[in-house]
Amino acid sequence: MKKIRHFLSITDLSPKEFWQVMQLSKKLKTEHKRKGANKEIFPNKTLIMIFEKPSLRTRISFEAGMTHVGGHAIYLGPSDIGMGSREEPRDVAIVSSSMSDIIMARTFKHTTIENLAQHATVPVINALSNIEHPCQILADFMTIWEVKGKLEGLRLAYVGDAENNVTHSLALGCGLLGMHFYVGAPKGYWMDAAIFNKSQALAKKTNVSIKQTTKPQEAVKGADVVITDTWVSMGDEKEKKKRLKIFKPYQVNSSLMKLAHKKAIFLHCLPAYRGNEVSSDVIDSARSVVFQEAENRLHAQKGLMAFLLNQP
Ligand code: CP
Ligand code: NVA
Repeated sequence: MKKIRHFLSITDLSPKEFWQVMQLSKKLKTEHKRKGANKEIFPNKTLIMIFEKPSLRTRISFEAGMTHVGGHAIYLGPSDIGMGSREEPRDVAIVSSSMSDIIMARTFKHTTIENLAQHATVPVINALSNIEHPCQILADFMTIWEVKGKLEGLRLAYVGDAENNVTHSLALGCGLLGMHFYVGAPKGYWMDAAIFNKSQALAKKTNVSIKQTTKPQEAVKGADVVITDTWVSMGDEKEKKKRLKIFKPYQVNSSLMKLAHKKAIFLHCLPAYRGNEVSSDVIDSARSVVFQEAENRLHAQKGLMAFLLNQP
């Protein structure tokens, strides 16, 4: 029987498999750049895309990605399924599996994606939950690899809301692949304890350190890569006023960037709120690779789908 591999967390790949995905992604990116098209490696394959939240990058990268390789994607928006109200996730998973080859889901609760994966008979991809955003981290690491030529041993700094999906996947990914990860975030907005402990356990094996501090300057000092994300993630809107006040000292601006390595680059998963988590002069500077990072969502997810669909 064919082995079903899901991608709910960045840790669902071993380091060796992560690099297999990267090599596939690089190959597909190079082919598409050179020829303006990819070989149709997924003819007649259908991707079901389940969105409980808005999206620009995730939707177009998965949908265009499937088109490029000869497949097809079906978009189901927040009002289409009514998951959990109109229909249980397990029934959604069984029905979708019977008519498609692969499913991706962006949900509020991580448990909804786990539930889908538990009952699906095709691979399920986490396209962002409250806990992780592993597809984003594939694109982030691909971008860092392209610019810096390596991942191992680099020092990444994250400043801002650390209690979110992007930070969690970054910490786990850094532990898994051997990058130092220093977080600067206000108390009360540090990583989820279970995720932090898991990333520490991984970091022990790869001999890197993962630390949290309330001082953004300490986190950024000497960093090769500086990363931030919105202070108000989807689902946190009710806390917007409070968050904008608490996070104010955590803006990534040019004076903070001066503390990083002189060749440090800046990453942001986007959408970005200029003037809040990042100043315009940083996100629009030559050190910023945010649009290369956004484009790499397309290439990295093609590589990921090729990996998941080609399991023996
Ligand atoms: N970075 C990211 O996931 O963007 P979207 O929310 O627009 O998909
Ligand atoms: N942390 C953000 C990421 C958006 C792509 C959110 O969850 O809204």
